[in-house]
Amino acid sequence: MKIAIVGTGYVGLVSGACFSEMGVDVTCVDIDREKIERLEKGIIPIYEPGLKNIVTRNHEADRLHFSTNLPAILNDMEIVFIAVGTPSDENGNADLSSVMAVVRTIAEHMLKPLLIVTKSTVPVGTSYRIRDMVRKRLDERGLPGLQFDVASNPEFLKEGAAVNDFMSPDRVVVGVENEAAKGLMTKLYRPFLLNNFRVIFMDILSSEMTKYASNAMLATRISFMNDIANLCERVGADVNMVRRGMGSDSRIGRSFLYPGCGYGGSCFPKDIRALIKAAENAGYEMSVLKAVEEVNNRQKDILFQKFKDHFKGEMKGKTAAVWGLSFKPETDDVREAPSLTLIGSLLEAGVAVRAYDPAAMQEARRCLNDSIYYASDIYDAANGADALIVATEWKEFRLPNWSILKKIMNNHVVIDGRNIYNMEELASCGFAYNGIGQ
Ligand SMILES: NC(=O)c1ccc[n+]([C@@H]2O[C@H](COP(=O)([O-])OP(=O)(O)OC[C@H]3O[C@@H](n4cnc5c(N)ncnc54)[C@H](O)[C@@H]3O)[C@@H](O)[C@H]2O)c1
Repeated sequence: MKIAIVGTGYVGLVSGACFSEMGVDVTCVDIDREKIERLEKGIIPIYEPGLKNIVTRNHEADRLHFSTNLPAILNDMEIVFIAVGTPSDENGNADLSSVMAVVRTIAEHMLKPLLIVTKSTVPVGTSYRIRDMVRKRLDERGLPGLQFDVASNPEFLKEGAAVNDFMSPDRVVVGVENEAAKGLMTKLYRPFLLNNFRVIFMDILSSEMTKYASNAMLATRISFMNDIANLCERVGADVNMVRRGMGSDSRIGRSFLYPGCGYGGSCFPKDIRALIKAAENAGYEMSVLKAVEEVNNRQKDILFQKFKDHFKGEMKGKTAAVWGLSFKPETDDVREAPSLTLIGSLLEAGVAVRAYDPAAMQEARRCLNDSIYYASDIYDAANGADALIVATEWKEFRLPNWSILKKIMNNHVVIDGRNIYNMEELASCGFAYNGIGQ
């Protein structure tokens, strides 16, 4: 089976590599020439555990190819996946310009039957728009009889565990219009789910909605817990205990109940905005999601507020060590990361920032340029700092040597945005500790 995946980012590269691991002949296509040239040389553009091995192995086995030329390979393919970015536009809607650029190329160059699958997260109805655009162009090109199908196959992988999620998914959601498309998608996914076939077939509109509804549910749990945590602080309860007490209820479950400094990343913020906008366009108000977004915007400011409160507003000339820049551990993705909100506020208040992240230094530099000091490790970041602020819960931050930190820091303050430390333990080491919801 030959497939193309257009858009070789977090989703496209992981999907392409994993499909090729199962024996599918995959071509990953991107308009970024430099990215494709580097991939040809075995240089992986993103940090994602396990990805390099699987890309290298399948590229060497001639099952995984890279290209910048979709028209040249298109008519060799049975299926083309669209996995390009769908960021927010200036109004919060999903910007579909990259998706539509790919669709135009397909419609312009298609000569054989094809299944066009949308893997990018797109508003409900987009696959039908794609179908209509392609049909119109084929008619204009004098090819009214040329058959093709569209399908929706939203992606649920988590950055930081993407390869594992793709290889062993909880479920695969596929929206189709007919048995032919269903048959092809079954053939493609069966190797992943030999023992327990968890592909949920449905209509296309429901499939597109399932992706947004899933992200919205997860973001809601995070904002809900952040609200509970903030209330815990005010009434003297400990959110860590509350979370354990709640999560043990099988109706609630333990996942996504961790309070922190707000959700970020390339999906939740833009997808929540897009769903709110899509509802508005349909004449409906998503009241819960509006609150979820509002709580999150407030929560992204919480570390700065804690820093400000500790120093009673006297921040100018202070130095903050920031541990963690990526929006979550095990990725170098800093898109909409809480660390960037924090650093922006610190710099504006005249605070010098010394930052360290195990993987995201290069990505952070693209946003922050030379406005901060990029440290070589956690201790270099903490050297001379007035406060240590944890913005991402990387494993290597969990058990630092507190006696070294005591010696090298100017003031002994820890603001723990991810609740990874123990208040009593830090107090016994001579640190003032401030977590979330404790
Ligand atoms: N990142 C995630 O964890 C995740 C998870 C699930 C779903 N998604 C969704 O998947 C989609 C892709 O996300 P991503 O994080 O992989 O994006 P990304 O920004 O990492 O990658 C997108 C890639 O598409 C390429 N591209 C843009 N226009 C193109 C065109 N016309 N032709 C060919 N290539 C083009 C870009 O150069 C880039 O390499 C989005 O809709 C996103 O919401 C992302």
